[in-house]
Amino acid sequence: MAIFIRKFLYKYAKCLGVTVLTTFFIQIIISIILFPTVNDNLLKKFGDTSLGKLELNDVSARKIINGNGDDEDIPSKSQSDKVYPRLRTEELDFTPACAIESREAISAIHRAKTQNCKQEIVNKTCLIQNSNFYPVKLPNLCPSNGMTYGKYLGCYLDEKKFRILSSFYGNYATTNSPDLCIEICIQAGFPYAGVQYASECFCGDMTPPLSSKSIESSCDMKCPGDASKICGGYFAMNIYETGLTKFVPVTPKLSSHNKDSIRIVFLLTLNGRALRQVYRLLNVLYRSHHYFYIHVDKRQDYMHRKLSVLEQQFPNVRLARERFATIWGGASLLKMLLSSMKDFFALGWRWDYVINLSESDFPIKSLEDLEIFLSVNKGLNFVKSHGREVQRFIKKQGLDKTFIECETHMWRVGERKLPHGIVIDGGSDWIALSPEFVSYVVGKQDELLSGLDIIFQHTLLPAESFFHTVLRNSKFCNTYVDNNLHVTNWKRKLGCKCQYKHVVDWCGCSPNDFRTEDWPRIQNTLNRQLFFARKFEPVINQEVITRVEQLIGFNDHYRIQNVEAYWQNIYDTQDMPASTDDTLLSHAGSIIRHNAKTLLQEGCKMELGDIIEINLYKYADIYKGNLILYKASIHGADELLVETWYKPKHHLELNFQSQYVDLIKMFKVSSEYDQKEMTFRNFASILGPLSEPVLVYQFSPQMDKLNTNFTIIWLDPSGVIADVNTIHKEENNVTDFIKLNIKTPLLPGVWKVGLLEQNNALIALTKFLVTPLEYFAGREMSHQETSLIHSGSVSSYKKFSYLKDIDFLPGARDSLLLKELTESNARRIGQDLREWIDSLSIAFYDVLGSCVSTYSNNLKDKLVCGNYKFSECVSTEWSSLSPDPKGTIGKINTLTGRIDRI
Ligand SMILES: *[C@@H]1O[C@H](CO)[C@@H](O)[C@H](O)[C@H]1NC(C)=O
Ligand SMILES: *[C@@H]1O[C@H](CO)[C@@H](O)[C@H](O)[C@H]1NC(C)=O
Ligand SMILES: *[C@@H]1O[C@H](CO)[C@@H](O)[C@H](O)[C@H]1NC(C)=O
Ligand SMILES: *[C@@H]1O[C@H](CO)[C@@H](O)[C@H](O)[C@H]1NC(C)=O
Repeated sequence: MAIFIRKFLYKYAKCLGVTVLTTFFIQIIISIILFPTVNDNLLKKFGDTSLGKLELNDVSARKIINGNGDDEDIPSKSQSDKVYPRLRTEELDFTPACAIESREAISAIHRAKTQNCKQEIVNKTCLIQNSNFYPVKLPNLCPSNGMTYGKYLGCYLDEKKFRILSSFYGNYATTNSPDLCIEICIQAGFPYAGVQYASECFCGDMTPPLSSKSIESSCDMKCPGDASKICGGYFAMNIYETGLTKFVPVTPKLSSHNKDSIRIVFLLTLNGRALRQVYRLLNVLYRSHHYFYIHVDKRQDYMHRKLSVLEQQFPNVRLARERFATIWGGASLLKMLLSSMKDFFALGWRWDYVINLSESDFPIKSLEDLEIFLSVNKGLNFVKSHGREVQRFIKKQGLDKTFIECETHMWRVGERKLPHGIVIDGGSDWIALSPEFVSYVVGKQDELLSGLDIIFQHTLLPAESFFHTVLRNSKFCNTYVDNNLHVTNWKRKLGCKCQYKHVVDWCGCSPNDFRTEDWPRIQNTLNRQLFFARKFEPVINQEVITRVEQLIGFNDHYRIQNVEAYWQNIYDTQDMPASTDDTLLSHAGSIIRHNAKTLLQEGCKMELGDIIEINLYKYADIYKGNLILYKASIHGADELLVETWYKPKHHLELNFQSQYVDLIKMFKVSSEYDQKEMTFRNFASILGPLSEPVLVYQFSPQMDKLNTNFTIIWLDPSGVIADVNTIHKEENNVTDFIKLNIKTPLLPGVWKVGLLEQNNALIALTKFLVTPLEYFAGREMSHQETSLIHSGSVSSYKKFSYLKDIDFLPGARDSLLLKELTESNARRIGQDLREWIDSLSIAFYDVLGSCVSTYSNNLKDKLVCGNYKFSECVSTEWSSLSPDPKGTIGKINTLTGRIDRI
């Protein structure tokens, strides 16, 4: 409405041919009458938008949906102004140095578990409150080419259709002033700032045309934020220089015929257990003239142990000695990167670029293409900018908030002001940097770097803005290329589900894994300067990785054995700290005992030894089961290695009488459901009393048309209803998941989950096993422990007595029997307990085969045992010991400097 009035009066004034002066008179009246509302409305409508020149860029537009998610403990933005809760100092074993004011900090202090972490939050919050923490101003060291901070250029007339400064518009009804506007324009990297109509701030790249310059009296409105200054007038603007020159990212050269030599440091930051994929990546990237600096997360002992040996094999491979336990979005990520960079600088390597990769990256151009591209662009720095309006980026990214990392959590403790004088930039955290720039960043700290250091130690997702911001404000500002060489598989609908709430007080997004159906997205990058893609995870889809290899020139797949197989380790006996996955070990123990019993029936007596490894096995991207590798001896002879392959049985029963039965595509319980990839990470559904079962259902899309609600009933092994959910017609998502919402421990045994029509007729029934534990904290269970852990939490269930006449509920007699049985089961220990576990395992898993391997050569005569004939592990296609050239480090070819995988 305000705009309309302004426009109307303007036109009206023009029509009547009244003088400029009269227009201003009218405008002053309007501003007196309408000022508060005009500005409030404008603020609501336009306060957060640019003039539309800077559009949201899909590749890099990122991350945060909102600051809170639905976690009630984290204070929401709207509440923070109203309520001032008190810090409960009685819960602290120290005296806070100040009275904490920030509601967010108080919440964080109460949620933190250790006193040390609480104290760190208190200490820092007090420093911030006293303004002794962050730098107020930092120097911009980018050459200014004669531009001067705050230099006044004059009063210019502006036009609605042709804005003089067209790159940014903001409305600051109570705070606007030339100083504020200049700061805002500096943050966004613009050379000119202009204040207009009291509350408006414009930024731009283009020198204002002299023809628009007016007399000073055209600018005649006081600034709301500083009454001693003038903030333009009606379509009139006081324009200032910010001291920056116009920023233009460098356009890299494309190619050249004479390729210069180039040496790249691949900085691999690894996490998880996808070892064979790391090997595959190394096989593809390896050249003897490049370097591989590998940081393995401090907690990932398996990956680190396995990769350590590469240092002896390859002089150009080095593992980080100082390892960090990093978390998603955590400040420790940047610490880790800087520490790694410092370290390989000290190694005396001679290199031209460092490129940051993880185990989920893969090249999508040949390495030679990358080498050519980088060799003609030496000295440039590749980062990708967010491509949106900077104030908005700052908000979405949480750069205006302080975060403190402790207890492997990023605690949000309140608002902060970013320092004056510097450009704020950020975007993707995938980078390719020159040695000159890295040397500056990790070298002697100047005022800019040490100031940014404090800021970024308390920043969410620091790697996404630190390097960008240093680049823009340092003497390297002219080496900035807006391209991170990466294509990222964003699927925001799936990837922005607040999935990191447990580690950060924020909602973040993550890109999806590439699958075969995403192939066009990779193909579309053929003619673009993009050399890597992410994410790839062979446990989700391996076919697409093989296709990418073909794309970049590998034509050896027909010779690679087991090219469609994938193995991923889920347990290794050497893991430090010693794995205490009691559920997995209790479960695996029962599978191999079951296997030994079967063999005994064939006249083959096998003594079981320790479990060495457990792997999951996929073939052609289909989960084929798990493999347990263990020591054993046959007929009392030497120790052998035996691997047993087994697979979960299906447990879905459909009621074909039901009219809805055809709608059910999936109805399954397991744990570790990955919402983003829509898969269970617990492939074998190995659940124990402390697991968190999740039901995933998938209905066919026709479901939408039905006007009915469904009921889901969770029945525990004693036949008692543990939980009930309703799927309402209105929220009939085709695929969704439901968590079993009861206290642990879960009662061990066979659980049933029923899907019921509105008239309580059963449509589908699935069963899942909660394995009783043989071990607790790695030791055999005692009487006391079993009676606690194996009794479930029945007493804490809600009451569902209103549910009657449901087919699959046990009758009164059965109920009584089940109850007695449950009570006696909870008392079982030792051999008795193992027999119970085994009888349950048999019902839920099928053993598919066993193979043997040995340390000595005379294996052949060990293959026959009673009536059973083992296969030799290396000659099966399923064993984790069978050949896997793509997932094993091959041999160096001294002629090509590459690794040959066959
Ligand atoms: C907090 O500050 C106090 C007093 O200066 C100091 O003794 C203590 O070590 C600090 N604790 C943490 C965790 O920062
Ligand atoms: C480097 O790689 C890791 C992924 O392993 C990523 O999380 C990190 O932020 C990256 N960033 C930079 C700037 O290197
Ligand atoms: C489904 O449940 C909702 C909420 O209880 C109820 O409002 C709605 O009427 C039900 N729909 C049908 C078809 O019964
Ligand atoms: C399911 O549908 C409801 C209502 O339409 C919606 O709010 C919710 O976000 C959907 N959930 C998923 C996982 O798509």
